[in-house]
Amino acid sequence: MRRLVAQTRLHPSDLVLPMFVIEAAESRPIASMPGVLQHSLDSLRRAATEAAEAGVGGLMLFGVPEVRDATGTGATDPNGILNVATAAVAAEVGDAVVVQTDLCLDEFTDHGHCGVLDAAGRVDNDATLERYAEMGLAQARAGSALLGLSGMMDGQVAAVRDALDAQGHTDVAILAYAAKYASAFYGPFREAVDSQLTGDRRSYQLDPANRREGAREADLDVAEGADVVMVKPALSYLDVLADVAATSPVPVWAYQVSGEYAMVEAAAANGWLDRDRTIAETVLSIKRAGADAVLTYWAVELADRLTRGQ
Ligand code: PBG
Repeated sequence: MRRLVAQTRLHPSDLVLPMFVIEAAESRPIASMPGVLQHSLDSLRRAATEAAEAGVGGLMLFGVPEVRDATGTGATDPNGILNVATAAVAAEVGDAVVVQTDLCLDEFTDHGHCGVLDAAGRVDNDATLERYAEMGLAQARAGSALLGLSGMMDGQVAAVRDALDAQGHTDVAILAYAAKYASAFYGPFREAVDSQLTGDRRSYQLDPANRREGAREADLDVAEGADVVMVKPALSYLDVLADVAATSPVPVWAYQVSGEYAMVEAAAANGWLDRDRTIAETVLSIKRAGADAVLTYWAVELADRLTRGQ
């Protein structure tokens, strides 16, 4: 009876797995994200195949380069780690899952900001748009089907859409991290991508105090041509997610971020939470609040459990 009257259901294809790839030959654990790896290219390929077999809807790739510079050259280099990994994964599982790429400079810059800096050391919004347009083209050429614009620059969706269309990449879609809040929950991610950031991103990410601003950012991104809008983090922002989902003309996704993952894993490791139930409940709650799909580091495990009916 409970199953028959359930108002929210999770399905493996609602889940997107974020994955990290490094240039080293061996993959490495991420201490603050137990169970998540910085993959070598080989292990990335294997894990992507495993995720596709589990039935997840997509993979979101993050590149972790060896060398960084002020403008994030590695992000637009066709031989840069993210572009090489995208091509490899697209060739392996591109028919089975949606291969997606993080489009942001923070992993590639030596200062760790999401954009390039001006002479005064501030993030230069409009100069960054030019880099994003180049990065979008590099990722489209590598075979990404969905570009995840996570940098929170004003005008980024329109800039990348225009560049893609001008070069004939009309079939490459844009996922706009529309309502991305300046959050402490990204903490473990900084370890995952060897972030060089000192300071914070409060000059371009949203203030956690602002609910209406989240919906406004989503509207702006849709007007610029976003195919999907995202709210991030997820669990502390379910009100924003519900607002966006109530009016969005495009699919709405949410990102259960690294800190949300780490919190549950740490509590479960101490025996303080029932790990499996907590995982299922958090992702279900995110879907209930209005997410059509959820990016989660538990995507494969959860997809397996859903398939087995547990
Ligand atoms: C930016 C980006 C970040 C995350 C996804 N894309 C970091 C940030 O904005 O500080 C965080 C994801 C997570 O914490 O799991 N490239």
